[in-house]
Amino acid sequence: MNSELRDLYQDVILSHYRQPKNWGDLPDSNANAEGFNPLCGDRISVFLRVKDGVLEDIRVNGCGCAISCASASMMTEAVKGKSVEEAEVVFEQFHRLVIEGEAQEDDDSELSALAGVHEHPVRIKCATLAWHTLRAALRNEKQVSTE
Ligand code: FES
Repeated sequence: MNSELRDLYQDVILSHYRQPKNWGDLPDSNANAEGFNPLCGDRISVFLRVKDGVLEDIRVNGCGCAISCASASMMTEAVKGKSVEEAEVVFEQFHRLVIEGEAQEDDDSELSALAGVHEHPVRIKCATLAWHTLRAALRNEKQVSTE
């Protein structure tokens, strides 16, 4: 592993990769989407149970590399229990984080562990795969590509 990549694989990322949260199927989901990363061919599925505008439960199935799996796991924890509008805001904040590498001043969440991704354009697609899939599911779009 080269030093650039080693910088990315921080403890928090590895921990989520090894023991992903909210993984598997969600039999009573009422929204879902499949995301595709054309750069590597990896796919991810996001299942949601939304009730009264609140994201009551979420599951993720399948992923590619450590970055995509860890990001998906962190995402589930970041949005579970939030309203659909709040989840969209978290998406925007995360997108800024991995594009620009800057966390919100008040952001003490684990998501900031992925800030280093912004220096690796190919990895941005990995980190955002689950997030684009989440947003597609929230918008009742069944398929999304990170192109
Ligand atoms: Fe496929 Fe990262 S290499 S999502």
